[in-house]
Amino acid sequence: MSFENLLIERDAGVAVLTVNRPKVLNALNTQTLDELRRAILDLKHDDAVRAVILTGAGEKAFVAGADINELAVQSPTGGREHAVRGQHVLDLIEHLGKPVIAAINGYALGGGCELAMACTIRIAADTAKLGQPEINLGILPGYAGTQRLARIVGRGRALEILLTGDQLSAQEAHRLGLVNRVVPAASLMAEARALAATLAAKAPIAVRYILEAVHKGLEMPFPQAQIFEATLFGLVASTDDMREGTKAFLEKRKPDFKGR
Ligand code: COA
Repeated sequence: MSFENLLIERDAGVAVLTVNRPKVLNALNTQTLDELRRAILDLKHDDAVRAVILTGAGEKAFVAGADINELAVQSPTGGREHAVRGQHVLDLIEHLGKPVIAAINGYALGGGCELAMACTIRIAADTAKLGQPEINLGILPGYAGTQRLARIVGRGRALEILLTGDQLSAQEAHRLGLVNRVVPAASLMAEARALAATLAAKAPIAVRYILEAVHKGLEMPFPQAQIFEATLFGLVASTDDMREGTKAFLEKRKPDFKGR
């Protein structure tokens, strides 16, 4: 599978996906979004890949948003299609069934912040800047940013970020819970790779069910979410990995999970 605006590297259970349009700060045009969609589907079906890192090419940006050249000429129906398409790609990331770590190496604005929020865990370089500046263009986020941001940082904080369009420093984003960690820019990829390696060594089916229990369960009424969790808890009891995990503990050794 070859891409013009994406780089993919796979090594030891971890795939690194890099949005590669540094001249426009990795802005997401239609082609790049479509390449992301195809890459994510490919990674979903690759059993050798157990964790993914998503980052941006160059020193300056993770992703500086949707491509404003395309936004400037969109029609009402085209705008709706554009938003639905973007939402779909970000949903694929959220529901990949494998952890996706956003390594935020610079600007994560607009669609870039939305992309990071669809990831499982966000690590930011201390030089990163996050925000939803759409309001300054006379528009609003269209890749579910209004929804994910409010769910991650709370309604009041989300509304301030969405209505001011201000950029947040990595430290401020961390204080609000928008990013999990802030690290020196020079060690961002090493930190992301170390975390990805840790997650890639976990039992893949249990990982997938935890992701499902949290993402799907949060959209359900609490009693249904609990029974959903209990059902997944019962299902993992059918796996070789459950037997390996419990046996390894009792034998005082590290488990070797196979994803079965
Ligand atoms: N879409 C299209 N092109 C973009 C872009 C975007 N979202 N963000 C940056 N670019 C382009 C710029 O137009 C510029 O192109 P040029 O070299 O042909 O002039 C290039 O990337 C570099 O950006 P520039 O603005 O010169 O860098 P800067 O360091 O002065 O500012 C930002 C960086 C991120 C603050 C600024 O680029 C910006 O505000 N970008 C838009 C962010 C945004 O509103 N995103 C939400 C879109 S919905």
